Amino acid sequence: MDSIRACIFDAYGTLLDVHSAVMRNAEATGEHAEALSTLWRLRQLEYSWTRTLMGKYVDFWQITVDALDFALKTYQLETQGGLKERLLDAYLELGAYHDAAETLKSLRDRGYVTAILSNGNDAMLQGALKAGNLTDCLDACLSVDELKIYKPDPRVYQFACDRLSVTPGEVCFVSSNAWDLAGAGAFGFNTVRINRQSAPLEYDFSPLKHQVKALSELPALLPSSVSKS
Ligand code: 2OP
Repeated sequence: MDSIRACIFDAYGTLLDVHSAVMRNAEATGEHAEALSTLWRLRQLEYSWTRTLMGKYVDFWQITVDALDFALKTYQLETQGGLKERLLDAYLELGAYHDAAETLKSLRDRGYVTAILSNGNDAMLQGALKAGNLTDCLDACLSVDELKIYKPDPRVYQFACDRLSVTPGEVCFVSSNAWDLAGAGAFGFNTVRINRQSAPLEYDFSPLKHQVKALSELPALLPSSVSKS
């Protein structure tokens, strides 16, 4: 990790708690709250991959709405007045993990470039970053919306290198999503998994440098300052 100059973060699930939207509406979603949130997230990701493979891009907000429609119908919650709108409003202001801001600040203070590379489109990312007080801790917020292709397509990781003027070996890529880390590791990034739930390892064909349980453990994995060479 001695050559690292930039720390690039996934947004949803890594810095932002994707389940906080449903949890804030737990009363209205009732006994299905957890299952609804899980299905919403799974379909959101699935639609991003299938649309990329089919060459049928729509932005991540549209995908998020489509996935929620499916999840609500699955649990017969689609007719509950105002629920869809409340969940979508909450998604635009997702909670950030408690250690997100302090971790980003600490890396930035040590001279690392801090950036987000996300499937989210700019409008949804900016809203959530503002709500989570993360905007001022980041040097860049990069969205795949500029490319119209979703992660883990390698062109997305190359786009981040081009934008930040770094080589893959100079990047520490941080995500809690195994599929994203697999793509980033195969591309050549140094990858760190935030594995809060101690999920089993997967995608073992792709290199994973480190695995930690919380964002706050990340600074200790990196040199205390950026190498000048
Ligand atoms: C991202 O933020 C969807 O978690 C994924 O790119």
